[in-house]
Amino acid sequence: MIDSNKITIRESLPSDIQYIYKISKSSFTNSWSLSSYEEDFNNIFSKYFSLLYGDKLIGFLSIWIIIDEITITNIAIDINYRGHGFSKYLLNYLINSFKNFNILLEVRESNKIAINLYKNFKFEEMYKRNNYYKNPTENAIIMKKF
Ligand SMILES: CC(C)(COP(=O)(O)OP(=O)(O)OC[C@H]1O[C@@H](n2cnc3c(N)ncnc32)[C@H](O)[C@@H]1OP(=O)(O)O)[C@@H](O)C(=O)NCCC(=O)NCCS
Repeated sequence: MIDSNKITIRESLPSDIQYIYKISKSSFTNSWSLSSYEEDFNNIFSKYFSLLYGDKLIGFLSIWIIIDEITITNIAIDINYRGHGFSKYLLNYLINSFKNFNILLEVRESNKIAINLYKNFKFEEMYKRNNYYKNPTENAIIMKKF
């Protein structure tokens, strides 16, 4: 049973990046490298949010903000903490923090869990990019929330 009082979401600190990378590496077959995360973290268009349960970083969400559009670049929850609604806390936080922005993302066609999550939040499927992902090669679905 999750104690919602123990959940904190805040902008990520430079010292979070090592934990973010660890979660990413165990979540994505084609995870960004640690140096890509470090570089992206310092990009002026990027923002990172960490989800802590107690004092443990168990999830993160990263975005690019370009004018009035947000692109979700990565979202992941530590495998040991999945299925408890943590990703919904992160997306609610994002949507409430950026009310007048469109939000875009791309997702592997086979990632039904993530697609379900986004549909819950009224993201719509816009189009497909064939063979967009590598390792393994797969189509991307582009989804957008207006
Ligand atoms: C996708 C991910 C972030 C979801 O995180 P989570 O905290 O486990 O998800 P939640 O418990 O908040 O569930 C959110 C919704 O996801 C969907 N979902 C979660 N687990 C699911 C499962 N086992 N089967 C089907 N749908 C599922 C449901 O729609 C759920 O909402 P509901 O419980 O109201 O039905 C997590 O699975 C993850 O880190 N996956 C690896 C990284 C990844 O694929 N990121 C997305 C890249 S586009």
